[in-house]
Amino acid sequence: MTDTAAPATDPTVESTGPNEHGYRTFRLGGFTFHRDEHFAHVEWPTGRHVLSIEAFLKALMRDVAWNFFYGIVNFDAVIGTMNHYGNVDLFAGRYNDAYRKAELDHQENFPHEQIMATFKAILADWTNDGYDPFAAPQETGSPFGEKRGDNLAAITRTRVTASRMVGVPGDEPLRSDATGHPINRMFADVPQDEPTVEPAPGYEGEVAAFNLYAYLSRSDVTWNPSVVSVCRDSLYCPTTEEFILPIIHGNDRVEWFVQLSDEIHWKVEDRETGEPRANVVMKAGDVAAMPADIRHQGYSPKRAMLLVWENGSAELPDMIAQGKAPKTPVEF
Ligand SMILES: [Fe+2]
Repeated sequence: MTDTAAPATDPTVESTGPNEHGYRTFRLGGFTFHRDEHFAHVEWPTGRHVLSIEAFLKALMRDVAWNFFYGIVNFDAVIGTMNHYGNVDLFAGRYNDAYRKAELDHQENFPHEQIMATFKAILADWTNDGYDPFAAPQETGSPFGEKRGDNLAAITRTRVTASRMVGVPGDEPLRSDATGHPINRMFADVPQDEPTVEPAPGYEGEVAAFNLYAYLSRSDVTWNPSVVSVCRDSLYCPTTEEFILPIIHGNDRVEWFVQLSDEIHWKVEDRETGEPRANVVMKAGDVAAMPADIRHQGYSPKRAMLLVWENGSAELPDMIAQGKAPKTPVEF
């Protein structure tokens, strides 16, 4: 086996040569990461953890692509990251009541650049040819087995982040067959017509509209919110979902969900302990506000369209921690 997946060498990434299965082992502070044919193994000074390599790569892909996202990205009930926007905690058992009580939990803080470089290197080395961690299970190959090649094109996709709105001249383009975004097999019935825009003279560059359903029907990834419109801190982040959200997201602010099509089941837990709080079944047209003190994981029986509405204000986590902003947007 040859080590073909190594990205440009970053001096902050600590790794050893390939193991008997062809994969490099990585160290980040007191944490080590190694993989075999089926599993990712994570070790830290007070414990160790094993999880499916498929689940690990899918979660790692989101953490990297989303820049550690808002709040907490739990890979599962044990390991994950918390974003402090400039530096990032890597933890094991920190948000797990049993680990906390047994004092087996562990966390370390790293500069954003260091943990990102290490995570990107793990993702590049451990993702095999033909496997796309962003794809639905029926639309990609297998992550398992001995190392075979890489899939750098799939793991280095640029996330859509409009500066104003998709379709505005100079901003993120619409999707089409020509841009490499065919209509997904489960959205074959979604109309592809675009709205007619008739701006008054002089406003041709200022008025735009597009068919969001058609745009989403051509998404080639799952569980990957794209920023399609921006109004100051108000971000529309729609996404298409199929199978299971690969992370358990711990909110650090309220998130609004608008179910645009089909159905998603959400398991909602306490953010700190993992204690179950609610099961939410959202059907087309349903709207939910996920509180700032929960974590949640979605299950989508068939490909579904979900609009995630985020308030991107950098001040919100502190305001909520200090009680200056509410954990829920509505009091009943
Ligand atoms: Fe969330």
